[in-house]
Amino acid sequence: MLELHEIFLIGALLVLAGMVILPIFFGAPWHPLLPGTIRRILRFADIRPGETVCDLGCGEGRVLIASAKEFSARAIGVEIDPLKVVMARLLARMNGVSDRVQIVRGNMFDFDPGSADVLYLYLTHQAVDKLFPEILKKLKPSVRIVSYRFCLRGMTPEKVSEDKTLFLYQLDKGTKINTYH
Ligand SMILES: C[S@@+](CC[C@H](N)C(=O)[O-])C[C@H]1O[C@@H](n2cnc3c(N)ncnc32)[C@H](O)[C@@H]1O
Repeated sequence: MLELHEIFLIGALLVLAGMVILPIFFGAPWHPLLPGTIRRILRFADIRPGETVCDLGCGEGRVLIASAKEFSARAIGVEIDPLKVVMARLLARMNGVSDRVQIVRGNMFDFDPGSADVLYLYLTHQAVDKLFPEILKKLKPSVRIVSYRFCLRGMTPEKVSEDKTLFLYQLDKGTKINTYH
C-alpha cells in the first residue's frame, strides 16, 4: 500500500513528465527561458507600444507577459498544455497585465494569428515546417516573424542575431507571401 506522500510524489512526477514529454508529440518540447533571454528576444523583435505580440506554443506565457509589462504591447498566445495555460494566466494576473495578455488553450495548428504585429516562435523544425507556408496566408503583410533557435526554411531573414539564435523575417520586405519553398 502506498503512503500519502508517495502518491503525491508520483502524481507530481506524472504532471512534470506530462508537461515536458507530451508537448514533444504535439509540436515542440517545453524549455523555460531565462529572463535575460526573454528581454534579448523582445529587444531583437523591436516591440513598440501598442503592438500585438503572438506566441504560438506560449508555454507559461513569460515572453508575452514581459512584452506587455516591459514593452507596453498587447499579447496573445496559444498553448496546448492546460497546466501551462493555468500558469500563464496566473502569472499574467500576478504581474498586473491580465487585461493585455490573452492565453488561449488550444492547438497552434488551428489558431488564427491574424492580429499579430509580431509573431514569435520557439518551436522545432518539424513544427515550423507544419505551420508554414499555410500560416503566411493568415498573417498581416506587415508582420515581423521572430524565431528563436530555428530559422524558417526557404525564407531569407532580415536580421540574424550575432550568436545566430534569433531570426527576424519581414513579409513585406522582400519575402513575398506564397513564395515559401
Ligand atoms: C519550447 S516551448 C516555448 C515556450 C514559449 N514560447 C517560450 O518561448 O518560452 C514550446 C511550447 O509549445 C507548446 N506546444 C507544443 N505543441 C503545441 C501545439 N500543437 N499547440 C500549442 N502549443 C504547443 C509546448 O507545450 C511548449 O509549452
